Amino acid sequence: MKTKFLLDESQMPKYWYNLQADFPEPLPAVLHPGTQQPVGPSDLEPLFPEALIEQEVTTEREVEIPEPVRDVYQLWRPAPLYRAHRLERALGTPAKIFYKYEGVSPAGSHKPNTAIPQAFYNQQAGIRTLTTETGAGQWGTSLSFAGSLFDIDVTVFQVRVSYNQKPYRRAVMETYGAKCVPSPSELTEFGRKVLAENPDHTGSLGIAISEAVELAVQDPNTKYALGSVLNHVLLHQTVIGLEAMQQMEMADCWPDVIVGCTGGGSNFAGIAFPFMGHALRGGEKSRIVAVEPSACPTLTRGKYAYDFGDTAHMTPLTKMHTLGSGFTPPGFHAGGLRYHGMAPMVSHAKELGLFDAVSYTQRECFEAGVLFARNEGIVPAPEANHAVKGAIDEALRCKREGKEEVILFNLCGHGHFDMAAYTSYFAGELSDHEYDEQELAMALSGLPSVGA
Ligand SMILES: Cc1ncc(COP(=O)(O)O)c(C=O)c1O
Repeated sequence: MKTKFLLDESQMPKYWYNLQADFPEPLPAVLHPGTQQPVGPSDLEPLFPEALIEQEVTTEREVEIPEPVRDVYQLWRPAPLYRAHRLERALGTPAKIFYKYEGVSPAGSHKPNTAIPQAFYNQQAGIRTLTTETGAGQWGTSLSFAGSLFDIDVTVFQVRVSYNQKPYRRAVMETYGAKCVPSPSELTEFGRKVLAENPDHTGSLGIAISEAVELAVQDPNTKYALGSVLNHVLLHQTVIGLEAMQQMEMADCWPDVIVGCTGGGSNFAGIAFPFMGHALRGGEKSRIVAVEPSACPTLTRGKYAYDFGDTAHMTPLTKMHTLGSGFTPPGFHAGGLRYHGMAPMVSHAKELGLFDAVSYTQRECFEAGVLFARNEGIVPAPEANHAVKGAIDEALRCKREGKEEVILFNLCGHGHFDMAAYTSYFAGELSDHEYDEQELAMALSGLPSVGA
């Protein structure tokens, strides 16, 4: 009974996969916040190096992974695929459950898959400093790690609630040589404005992005890096699904169902897009399920509309599922899933009916994560618990229906820095935030009016 499906280093993908090549309809244009006209590459130049802007707009199916990036990927890639025999037995399900484990990266999640190429392309462009935001701390850690390898200074704005919840994340970022600042902060004009209105503001990803962008646009040697949402970030993450395809073949199985959790959409895209593309090109079709928190239900209850990616409205307008850029989600424990928007490519795929979305509350996700840990040994990140819960529910459906389906999910990170959240869960201190209809309506009422 095989448990681990391992690829040799020589089998690591040499290309990332771009779903834009296989979309039956092209992605809606990205608009300039002032003119509301489609943005050109020069509009993005203050923020990103040319190579990443090219990747943002390319419709080529395959984009080569540069050799220096593959060299670093080899520190932990190819990542293992596991068959969850013990979880299957605990659930008494006839389903076969597989999980791709991204927690083997140095930062503990899928985020270095894009941090490494982003740092590499910025170094090639002569950039000295990168600024960024982080929610859970996983992305900030990943960019700090990448900065240390490519000799780039990194400043991370960490959402204040998560900065307070996870002091050791900051310590890891500092170990890699980065500077970590709680957001909202006094370092930026926008941070000072938010703090003047509310000195106890717990922060949000939208605010942290505004602070990071503000610093980047002021200095030609500084650029900004984003850990999710953008097309090039999703592109880099497809290395996950490309490996998983080879590993499912090794296991002599093909997934009937694929499950991933969604914050900004990057780990979900990473596992799902290569399979979606395979089906769009006439290959076998899998049912794909995105899982999000009920307290920040972008895909299941948001509106598909043009919106800003940040709270200060400095970013371009993209068409996406959004709760409104003024939405501050409650401080629940999956910090990486507290983003008001969704990646435009994921949103477009949703509109095209290429996957389903479900939402769960945090306590049922922790319950699923604990069951997983007690059977498979790995303690998942709170974000990843959403995917675990989604996969378990699919396995229980198979049990009810007597079906032997194959379920694949992305275990996108471990929870070793999230033990305070587990402690609160065991102490019965976690509450399930009822989604506030009125707050959503208010945030959505602030959507920009765009005639598209
Ligand atoms: C472990 C983990 N999973 C998931 C996410 C959500 O981001 P995304 O939807 O881009 O994968 C984060 C974000 O910080 C994360 O740290």
